[in-house]
Amino acid sequence: MLEVSKAVFIRNAAQLVTLKGSSDIPRVRAEMSELGMIENGSIWIEDRTIQAVGTDVELAAKYKPRLAEAEVIDASGKLVTPGLVDPHTHLVFAGSRENEFNMRLQGATYMEIMNAGGGIHATTRATKAAAREELFHQSYQRLNQFLRHGVTTVEAKSGYGMDWETELKQLEVAKQLNEQHVIDVVPTFMGAHAIPEDYKRRPDEFVKLLVEEMIPKVAELGLAEFNDVFCEKGVFTPEQSRVILEAGKRHGLIPKIHADEIEPYEGAELAAEVGAISADHLLKASEQGMKAMAEKGVVGVLLPGTAYFLMAESANGRKMIDLGVPVALSTDCNPGSSPTVSLPFIMNLGCLKMGMTPAEVITAATINAAHAINRGHEIGSLEVGKKADVTIFNVENYMKLQYLYGVNHTDTVVKNGQVVVR
Ligand code: NIG
Ligand code: FE
Repeated sequence: MLEVSKAVFIRNAAQLVTLKGSSDIPRVRAEMSELGMIENGSIWIEDRTIQAVGTDVELAAKYKPRLAEAEVIDASGKLVTPGLVDPHTHLVFAGSRENEFNMRLQGATYMEIMNAGGGIHATTRATKAAAREELFHQSYQRLNQFLRHGVTTVEAKSGYGMDWETELKQLEVAKQLNEQHVIDVVPTFMGAHAIPEDYKRRPDEFVKLLVEEMIPKVAELGLAEFNDVFCEKGVFTPEQSRVILEAGKRHGLIPKIHADEIEPYEGAELAAEVGAISADHLLKASEQGMKAMAEKGVVGVLLPGTAYFLMAESANGRKMIDLGVPVALSTDCNPGSSPTVSLPFIMNLGCLKMGMTPAEVITAATINAAHAINRGHEIGSLEVGKKADVTIFNVENYMKLQYLYGVNHTDTVVKNGQVVVR
C-alpha cells in the first residue's frame, strides 16, 4: 500500500525566503542578493512536494476547506528558508584526529603531518580497519547532526580508502545512508584524494589504476555521480588531475576538483578547462582562474571552515562574486581540516571572513549549493513542484541568522514533506 502522508502547512513566517527563479542556472553577482522574500509567508506541502507558496492570507483562503486535515506549523516570528544543501563533505570516515589538531596548534602544518603518514593517511587506515556497520553507524550519527543544523541534502565523497575494497565500502555505505537516512546523500568518487603510501614513488601507476580500473568500475556500478581530485602540490599535479577528470567524463562522472587550496596550482583554470561542475576551496586561486570559472559557470564551492580550522586566510569570496563566479558554501566536513557539520556557522564565516552579505550566504548554501551538485531543478528554492525540503530558524529575519552567531537557530526541519526535526 502506498504511504499517504499528511499535508503540511507552514504558516505565517516573518520572512519566507523563496529564492525563486534560478532552477536552471546558479545565481551570480547581484542575483545572489535577491532572496525572493515573502513577509507573512506560508507554504502548502503535499506528496513530498511544494504545492503552493504565498502570503498567509492567500494560502489560508486557497486551502480553507482543507485546513483541518493538515499538520499546521506556526512559523510566526520565524525565518523560513529552503533546506540547506551541503555540496562538499567527506561524510563517510572512521576515527578522529584531535591529536593532529593539537600538533597544528603547536606549529606543525597540515601538509607536514600528511607527508609524515598522518592526515588523510591516518583516516584511511581507520576507515580501512572499520567494519562496514561501524562506518555506517558513525556516518549516520553525523547525518543526524547535519539535520539538526538545518541541512537536508549532503554530498559525500569517498577517498579514505584509495584501494578498491575500501573505496567500494565507502560508496556502498553512502548509498545505504541515502536509503536509510532522511537526508539525501549525493555520492562522489574521490579515489584521487592522496597518493597512497605504497605508490609514493610511482604516482603515475596509481593514476593508471584510477583511470583504467577504479573509475570504470564505480561508473559501471552506478555508485557515484561525480569524480573529484585533490589537485595540490605534492598530491596530484594539474596534468594528472586532468587525466583523472577526463577519464571520469568518458564514464559519465561529472568532474569536481579540490583546487588551489594550499598553494596556487592553476586548479581554477583546470576546472574551467575540463568543464567541472564546481571547483572547491580556491584559497589561492588566481584572478585569471576566477575569470575562467565565471565564463564557464563553474560553481566556486567555498569552505571557510577549512581555512579557519587550518588557520589560513579564507578564499576571496567577495572578489569571486564580483567577478561573476557563482559561489556556494560548504562545511567540507572531514576529520582533518574541518570537523564540523554546522553549515550555519560556515555561513557566518562567509560573512566575516570572506566579505559576503547575509543575503549572499543564504543563496550560497541553498540554490547555488544545489547547482554545485546538479540538483538545481529539485531543491535549493521554495517553488511549486520542488521537493519539500524546508528549514525554519528561530530568528525573525535573515540578517539575524548571521548576526547572532555561534548559536544553532534551527527550529524545525521538513524533509521530503515530513516534519523530521521539531
Ligand atoms: O577537503 N584537501 C583535501 N581533503 C580534505 C581534507 C581531508 C582530511 O584531512 O582528512 C579537504 O580539506
Ligand atoms: Fe574536501
